[in-house]
Amino acid sequence: MISLTLKISLVVIFFSSTLLLAHTGVKNEDVMKRMNLMKSMAENSKIIGEMLKKKIPFDLEQAKNSLVEISNLSKSTPLVFEKMAMDPKSESKIIIWEEFDNFRDLSNKLADNTLSAAENLSGFEDLKPALMTTASGCKECHTRYRE
Ligand code: HEC
Repeated sequence: MISLTLKISLVVIFFSSTLLLAHTGVKNEDVMKRMNLMKSMAENSKIIGEMLKKKIPFDLEQAKNSLVEISNLSKSTPLVFEKMAMDPKSESKIIIWEEFDNFRDLSNKLADNTLSAAENLSGFEDLKPALMTTASGCKECHTRYRE
């Protein structure tokens, strides 16, 4: 069985490595907008991950802010995806627009879950469940809707 520590390391590596993804050369503005939103999602998730791994000091306010930020970004996700736009560099699957209600539900679910994680965060020990909730929300959508 994969240990929780290893799992967390993998999540942190995931968040860090996705930041290196090149979206240079994307010409479509709508595609660029949604990629930038996703990049902010990863940046905020990375802060939680790094605090958990003690790469940066624990800061309750900063952790809460990052979770609230992820929540706001998730709320905005359906707005930046609403218009069907494509680009050769895009990793979006066409089924997003065939099942847009479900796509919106997944965004809202992550928005709600990260907001309650922010509200319930009262110490270092709450970081782990908060990160797990966040990561599973990202994964749920990426598995179905991202190449
Ligand atoms: C409701 C769906 C959904 C949720 C929730 C979601 N994503 Fe995404 N994400 C996508 C889709 C679709 C793409 C592909 C966008 C494209 O290339 O057109 C993507 C792309 C990305 C990218 C690559 C962006 C780039 O520059 O190419 C990163 C990084 C990312 N997501 C991080 C996250 C993180 C971190 C979370 C959770 C905190 C998250 N996403 C939650 C749907 C989602």
